[in-house]
Amino acid sequence: MPTLTVGDRSESFPHGTRLVLAIERLGIEIGHRCGGKARCTTCRVEFEEGEPQAMTVAEKEKLAEKGLAGEARLSCQIELTDDMTVRPVMTRASEGWPDTGPAPAEAIEPEPEWTAR
Ligand code: FES
Repeated sequence: MPTLTVGDRSESFPHGTRLVLAIERLGIEIGHRCGGKARCTTCRVEFEEGEPQAMTVAEKEKLAEKGLAGEARLSCQIELTDDMTVRPVMTRASEGWPDTGPAPAEAIEPEPEWTAR
């Protein structure tokens, strides 16, 4: 099982776990204001290690639209397939949100169409 590390927290999750959900299951209140549908970018993370080559077309388009290409990745569009170390950018505490947003589904939405980063 791949291991996810965020700061001083680290845990293994089933292969293919949606990254945004794995981060939450580590106890980190990462944003997902659009419910994990590649629309808001509040789930974005910076990769320290293990950035995947694969990228959904929805993520690629959203990052380009927001000028974030090459700087951040959308954790709602990534599956935990290898060990990864990430730094969430926006959390409930850092943004002062009342909550983190609608719960993302277990599987990537919209239906992923894969390309390379
Ligand atoms: S883009 Fe909105 S939760 Fe990922």
